[in-house]
Amino acid sequence: MDFKRYLITAALPYANGPVHIGHLAGCYLPADIYSRYQRAQKRDIKFVCGSDEHGVPITIRAMREGITPQDVVDKYNTIIKDSFEAMGISFDIYSRTSNKVHHETSQAFFTKLYNDGLFEERESEQYYDAEKDIFLADRYIIGTCPVCANPNAYGDQCEKCGSTLSPEQLINPRSALSNATPQKKMTKHWYFPLNKYEDWLKEWIVDGKKDEWKANVYGQCKSWIDSGLHPRAMTRDSTWGVPVPLPDAKGKVLYVWFDAPIGYISATKELTAQWSDYWCKEDTKLVHFIGKDNIVFHCIIFPAMLKAHGGFVLPENVPANEFLNIEGEKVSTSRNWAVWVDEYIKDFPDQQDALRYVLCANAPETKDNDFTWKDFQDKVNGELAATFGNFVNRAFVLMHKLCKGRVPAVHPDAVTEMDENLIKDIQAAKVKVENALESYKFREGLNEVMDLARKGNKYLQDNAPWSLAKTPELQAENQKRIDNCLHLCLQLSANLAILVNPFLPFTAKKMCYMMKVVDRMLEWEHAGKLDLLKVNYPLRAPEILFRKIEDAEVETQIEKLKSNLKKATAAMETKPTETTTAEAAAAAPADAPAKKAEITYDDFAKIDLRVGTIVKAEKVEKADKLLKLELDMGNNEMRTVVSGIAMHFNPDDIVGKQVTVVANLAPRKMRGIESNGMILMAQNADGKLIFTSPLETADNGSEVK
Ligand code: 2FM
Ligand code: ZN
Repeated sequence: MDFKRYLITAALPYANGPVHIGHLAGCYLPADIYSRYQRAQKRDIKFVCGSDEHGVPITIRAMREGITPQDVVDKYNTIIKDSFEAMGISFDIYSRTSNKVHHETSQAFFTKLYNDGLFEERESEQYYDAEKDIFLADRYIIGTCPVCANPNAYGDQCEKCGSTLSPEQLINPRSALSNATPQKKMTKHWYFPLNKYEDWLKEWIVDGKKDEWKANVYGQCKSWIDSGLHPRAMTRDSTWGVPVPLPDAKGKVLYVWFDAPIGYISATKELTAQWSDYWCKEDTKLVHFIGKDNIVFHCIIFPAMLKAHGGFVLPENVPANEFLNIEGEKVSTSRNWAVWVDEYIKDFPDQQDALRYVLCANAPETKDNDFTWKDFQDKVNGELAATFGNFVNRAFVLMHKLCKGRVPAVHPDAVTEMDENLIKDIQAAKVKVENALESYKFREGLNEVMDLARKGNKYLQDNAPWSLAKTPELQAENQKRIDNCLHLCLQLSANLAILVNPFLPFTAKKMCYMMKVVDRMLEWEHAGKLDLLKVNYPLRAPEILFRKIEDAEVETQIEKLKSNLKKATAAMETKPTETTTAEAAAAAPADAPAKKAEITYDDFAKIDLRVGTIVKAEKVEKADKLLKLELDMGNNEMRTVVSGIAMHFNPDDIVGKQVTVVANLAPRKMRGIESNGMILMAQNADGKLIFTSPLETADNGSEVK
């Protein structure tokens, strides 16, 4: 279909914390690159986003900090908005779901479905904190894990052993808010019959060729549909949120995942009176940029809601990225293991494009990827500065030196094959970048731009205009070659500015300044042209496009990560138990592990410690923390051990490591897998796990004494 307009959305971030670089890499940067590219194509686009200001985590945060939910969202809405702006994320509107227009829009949406008789009303028992007068989500019930005896397991999961739990399984359950024992209370909610949309979703996604969607997105959708859909409650008991617009719904609000995606509609309404063109006309291309944890909501639930309501376009694509790990470990906001965008901006003012470059070059498009500060330094210094920056700089410096600071003329009688080849490369690059961007392959697009800069460097090196200038006896002939070479290098610089603009807009702007051209030159239709800079036009002196990142800066950032983690871990150890001193005392901070009670030799002798080698390691499905390990225990014995180390290591990196195994631990089932033993590791003060393999390799199966 020929689309007349584009509606591009980026997931509304929760306003209960700042955004980190994983958010940028996963969602906002690709959405921005895509939007900037479409704008450069002069297409009719709207790029919308805003803060997601409802939901339980916001209420809980407010309660814990003794402030109102409004205070929480006001604070983080500003921080997030400023971070996006500073990073050049070019939303046409950044709205808020606490706005009046959003409350009205989402209530009207609910009312339409209600009046159409769509919702099912159901009563059920739910956990309730009578002291705080609040219904508790499973996450806010804490108790002792029945599997590993961790006293601070959550009602949905034990973070220590990775077991999935329900509140009923916890020993001595208590409310995370008041420590009171949760009670059960009847409550009524309105359910959206997702099951009734199963056939339609199958037709739309599975039969409807959505296999053109990214494999991760299509795969998740298909597995949801295949495993059967069920009605979902679209209301919650809370005082914070969009009130349910029914007379018998006091104290009830719309489920945050009901109202948040409608936030895209409200934001568009706020932006333009023509909002319905973008939402209701079939020739709109609606694209949702999200992170992978949002796939089901954007591909299954929200489309079913839109279909049920009627009159809205459905997403044409939902390009979701995977996650970005930091220094080899999963981002954890509770452990403060993250690079926060607002802090990056403070630490690296004017280095937005450096981060945009690294996050795009390393984007987790098809699998989780890793951000390390060393790699950041290598990519900025070794690629951006050494290739792109260097080429543009050399072209400008040489033009000032050898062509009197003006764009030299082309001498047709001195054109070489090398010139012709470079011209073809410039024209081909436009097509390649365009194809990559149209198909959401942002890494590939950026790589093509860099490849063109690389070709420019090689061309300059091969032609070496500086050495031509050194032979005065050939002055006239050589000057023709110098002119042709630098003319082409300058036209190439102008092309690079256009092609790089969606990715690195700050750089493109600086280049326009150097070339003394207006921003209109950056329109996509100009890419591939070789007369962007007029002959004899005086250009400015070059600016340094990318400064080098120093070793000390990298070290400071790594130290910062470690110290943040240490502080957060220490705080976490005490948090869930903060109101009971006895328990708080038992949970010592990570850098001072509590000493255990003395045991006799006989106690120790009961443990059969053996050496084993990890021969296979793989992630356990739907368990972030668990790895399934196959251990070679010697004497032809192989064992399966499920270990809670997935947050610390990539499976591939630990194959071949020797470990000490508690070999006579009673078998136990985790996620349906029988684990036969336990591996031993050391935990550093910063919470990092370390293999304590012997310096020499031992025979597998040897006893550890
Ligand atoms: O995961 C999140 O951060 C959600 N706040 C995303 C919401 S996207 C949309 F539905 F608004
Ligand atoms: Zn446990």
